[in-house]
Amino acid sequence: MRGDLERVLFDEPAIHRRLDDMAAQISNDYRERDLTVIAVLHGSLMFVADLLRRIPLPLKLDCLSVASYHGKAQSSGEVIFKLATASPSDGGQVMLPDVADRDVLILDDILDSGHTLAAVRERLEGAGPRSIRVCVLLSKKKQRAREVDTDYVGFEIEDEFVVGYGLDFRERYRNLPYIGVLRRELLEQPDK
Ligand code: IMP
Ligand code: MG
Repeated sequence: MRGDLERVLFDEPAIHRRLDDMAAQISNDYRERDLTVIAVLHGSLMFVADLLRRIPLPLKLDCLSVASYHGKAQSSGEVIFKLATASPSDGGQVMLPDVADRDVLILDDILDSGHTLAAVRERLEGAGPRSIRVCVLLSKKKQRAREVDTDYVGFEIEDEFVVGYGLDFRERYRNLPYIGVLRRELLEQPDK
């Protein structure tokens, strides 16, 4: 898999050092509050696991699964909520985590066009939380289709397609322990 990368942007120690700082800041900001973390799967999986283990607060964790890429390297703009915590009586409906009166922190892997986080934020806002903040590991420096205010950002990166540490291209590379730029010609290959 390393051969498919043009270059490595952040190795494991660099990611973990940054997580130490972010976790310290979040722990300080949310002491004595009812923190509910909403993880946007699957890309944020590694980030959430490593970050939350550094936050010694009595928080709750819930997950949402959304898709906006559909196997392409560009966001389609259409955000589909695929999976969320389901209660046994929901009859197959996508249920939002219960965030009423909670201080919500949304965790996602990367902010790109803004479609995903804007949609997630809007849906959660409708459920009456006390507060909402957004935390992303990566934020691309670019003009976004939808503006999203971020409260915690791990790293700002150029507008390039990156994989590893949870981030995928067509569901691959998530298990790389570091983050790197995918070779451009691989993005252009037809989907198998
Ligand atoms: P947005 O809706 O365009 O902001 O995209 C958000 C989602 O698209 C992220 O949660 C990722 O799953 C995916 N995504 C955006 N940019 C990249 C990238 O460079 N590599 C891998 N996935 C990405
Ligand atoms: Mg993805």
